[in-house]
Amino acid sequence: MMVESGLLLCSFSDPNGPMYYKGWYHFFYQYNPNGAVWGDIVWGHAVSRDMIHWLHLPLAMVADQWYDSNGVWTGSATILPDGQVIMLYTGSTNETVQVQNLAYPADLNDPLLVDWIKYPANPVLVPPPGILPKDFRDPTTAWLTSEGKWRITIGSKINKTGVALVYDTVDFKTYERKEDLLDAVPGTGMWECVDFFPVSMKSENGLDTSVNGEEVKHVMKVSLDDDRHDYYSLGNYDEKKVKFTADDLKNDVGIGLRYDYGIFYASKTFYDQKKDRRVLWGWIGESDSEYADVAKGWASVQSIPRIVKLDKKTGSNLLQWPVAEVESLRLKSDEFKNLKVKPGSVVSLDIDTATQLDILAEFEIEKEALEKTAHSNVEYECSNSGGASKRGALGPFGLYVLADGALSEYTPVYFYVVKGSDGKLKTSFCSDQSRSSLANDVHKQIYGSVVPVLEGEKLSLRILVDHSIVESFAQGGRTCITSRVYPTRAIYGAARLFLFNNAIETNVTASLKVWQMNSAFIRPYHPDQKS
Ligand code: FRU
Repeated sequence: MMVESGLLLCSFSDPNGPMYYKGWYHFFYQYNPNGAVWGDIVWGHAVSRDMIHWLHLPLAMVADQWYDSNGVWTGSATILPDGQVIMLYTGSTNETVQVQNLAYPADLNDPLLVDWIKYPANPVLVPPPGILPKDFRDPTTAWLTSEGKWRITIGSKINKTGVALVYDTVDFKTYERKEDLLDAVPGTGMWECVDFFPVSMKSENGLDTSVNGEEVKHVMKVSLDDDRHDYYSLGNYDEKKVKFTADDLKNDVGIGLRYDYGIFYASKTFYDQKKDRRVLWGWIGESDSEYADVAKGWASVQSIPRIVKLDKKTGSNLLQWPVAEVESLRLKSDEFKNLKVKPGSVVSLDIDTATQLDILAEFEIEKEALEKTAHSNVEYECSNSGGASKRGALGPFGLYVLADGALSEYTPVYFYVVKGSDGKLKTSFCSDQSRSSLANDVHKQIYGSVVPVLEGEKLSLRILVDHSIVESFAQGGRTCITSRVYPTRAIYGAARLFLFNNAIETNVTASLKVWQMNSAFIRPYHPDQKS
């Protein structure tokens, strides 16, 4: 049996044009009105006061022009200083050429921005020489140059090199192509849904997309069509040279960091001027069969919006954390302090139901065990080191979420610590889907990666559990993993939560706080609603 989401907004795919406007958060998304599979793409639209409770509105844009008749594809919003709202999006034309189009709200006094006008002289951009007609899509939010022009970037590829093309404009109707590429990474293929934004090196606040300067780093994010993951680099943006240079080029990585090691794609950020923060949304697809999606009549959800900022402690990665508004869904909580979990044991946590949870947990390995354990020359990799049942000296340990009482189904989210031959500890954070469901038409990979743990830090995690969606954040959001799981027994009242420790050489001390979560209020659109 398939279970739905209580907290999240259903869509089909990419988040589009998120923004805060006159008291409302606006969220547009790639949507197929005719089925639970990709195709016939138009723009869905929903609004919210808090990014948690949503009201669906009429479709914002449909495929009704020659320049978008094969799909109203991904785009981004820019709010101009004089209050105008600019929407740039990709249209797949009647000849399936990818072009960029301009749209704007019919009535700027309507805080819900229900009606949209497509600029009559669309398209405003067609693929430039040297770019193939199907490799030119997903314009970003615009940012200001020091000359006072607006600059955007658009993803593409040249042979197998993923590239970010750059255009300047004054009026969003005519554009000047910059010959320089903002960024290019050989071997990465088509860059979809490029996102480019500043993060502060000093402040905890988010920055408007146009901010630049000495106290700023830039983030270049690309969605790689070839492997369906979102990658980013931190680096420097030289406005004059029209060039982003990644910090990690030194290590020859190109664009090597992941927003999320599970299912999370085509993401997009926006600057939330109401709360001075940068917010990230990502598309969480399904990992069951298309047949099951068609049978249940919907597919895909959007992540809980995440605040994104620079990790000032490491300086080399972002931190992602669910927006504080999600805490308004917290109901009663249970607290467990300093539980000692012995090697090879599973501890049931006595909480009410376990299908909608917000979990905060900290773990400590015994000092003596850390000292006496032998060095390992073997690298641990979540995806192919045997999952949560493969026992090592100092891991795995963590939680079983969406488990049934008999443990016929469970999804471990865990840490695995290895002492390297240099004596240093290396920690991985993983989510193991291999026993998540008795169904056999679902993907059961193991996700995860290394997570930096600094001197004096405890191992900490947060997990948002929502029926089939598990969003996990380690060390304050340094490493994030989103999973889709489809239990058949561990559902509704039968779902439970367990601590486990499969390490061989150490007890683990765990402290947790677990909240039951209310469902979000997501109201569907009714045609008579608009009057
Ligand atoms: C990413 C993407 C975009 C495109 C849109 C079409 O998932 O392929 O590149 O604009 O989806 O739905």
